[in-house]
Amino acid sequence: MDSQDMSLRGSWGSKAAFIFAASGSAIGLGNIWRFPMMVSQNGGAVFVLVYVIAVILIGFPVMLAELTIGRHAQKNPVGAFEHIKPRTPWKLTGFLGIITGVFILSFYSVVAGWTVGYLYKTASGAFNNKDITAQLTDKIFTEFSANPFLVIVLALIIIGLTTYIISKGVKKGIERWTKVLMPILFILIIVLAVRALTLPGAEKGIAFYLRPDFSKLSGTVVLFALGQAFFSLSLGMGTMITYGSYISKSDNLVSSAGWVSFSDTLIALLAGLIIFPTLAFAHQPFNVGSEGLVFKVFPLIFSQIPGGYFFGTFFFALLSVAAITSTISLLEVPVSYFVDEKNWSRKKAALIIGLFSLGLAIPSALSTGGMEFFTKIKFLGALNFIFGNIALAVGSLFICLFVGYAWKVKKAAQEVYSGNPLFKIRPLWSFSIKYLAPVAIIFILIFIKKIVSG
Ligand code: PFF
Repeated sequence: MDSQDMSLRGSWGSKAAFIFAASGSAIGLGNIWRFPMMVSQNGGAVFVLVYVIAVILIGFPVMLAELTIGRHAQKNPVGAFEHIKPRTPWKLTGFLGIITGVFILSFYSVVAGWTVGYLYKTASGAFNNKDITAQLTDKIFTEFSANPFLVIVLALIIIGLTTYIISKGVKKGIERWTKVLMPILFILIIVLAVRALTLPGAEKGIAFYLRPDFSKLSGTVVLFALGQAFFSLSLGMGTMITYGSYISKSDNLVSSAGWVSFSDTLIALLAGLIIFPTLAFAHQPFNVGSEGLVFKVFPLIFSQIPGGYFFGTFFFALLSVAAITSTISLLEVPVSYFVDEKNWSRKKAALIIGLFSLGLAIPSALSTGGMEFFTKIKFLGALNFIFGNIALAVGSLFICLFVGYAWKVKKAAQEVYSGNPLFKIRPLWSFSIKYLAPVAIIFILIFIKKIVSG
């Protein structure tokens, strides 16, 4: 799909094209950077278990709800709510999504910038050393991420590239490439996971990652697992409404949502299979993961594999591409709003929102040692929590309530029937959207107070 298609509201060339674009949005730093960090901070295997349950019972139904709204209305998130329920406050859900998207884009670009920085570091041989230690990779990350000028420039590169892609409408080219590159990333991750699993001492890491300790189960774990599901599947801010608006009426929305959820979850689970055995091998604690976790751990595994220099460089290159297919979707939501509703040109919308996100990215970029004030208040971590967990959960709650009680499941289901005349899982979907997901989200929102107060 190119920019002309976008503004004329065309459709994806095929169902596969949609699945690749939506998976491109879903698969990104959320899977490889954020998921292992969340597992580490939230008790290991029990988090993984709750996460997988959350994806199946809540994430997947919410994705189907977003795609259904999008395909029915054929509009950006604000326009879509307005189209289905005109002159009601429901469109505020769309606005919330737009604001959330801009904030997520800001800190996400900082981490994506780190990835590009690590691509350069790996390619220039910084980790090309058989005896590299966890102490050394820790030191390298700490110094790297505290360099204010460097991290800001790297974030600028990411936002600049994203703005360029969105404004020029070169998405078609990008999609052609991601079709090739994402399967390669997948294979590379499998290779790394196999190596990690065969490292001496790997069992301890595997046990932390896969053997649940139910005494660690808590409301906080559920909060973070559910938030992670929304973040990783790109839900709760209208991304899938926007992407769904380009799906053809003859496509099966249920299987599309299923494929995207499945591939996204698989990649996240594999990332954990690399991180924890490698931590065990390096005699590092499992439960102190911070924003730097994957940047400290991946170089260790590269040093343990023949051709590690090649694998490492390739890995950070592919991760940078995966991050950019996600930043594209983050920027697409606000841009499609200003183009559709305010008649801005794509170029103007992309440029203004891109610049705005860059401004917002600066405090995040300075919060890993670059500047004391932002480091102390953990600015990046705070945005990640507020927008990556809470705002997406609130957005998803409104999306469920909208489909369940305002638009009504019966009418929404008519949209799903087009392309899937049987829609066998309708009762389950209805149950999740009307009861299970809203109750779970409200339950976790109650827990925020507890977390914030310590
Ligand atoms: N799902 C992306 C990831 O896991 O990296 C991040 C993301 C993209 C979140 C788009 C939300 C969104 F709307």
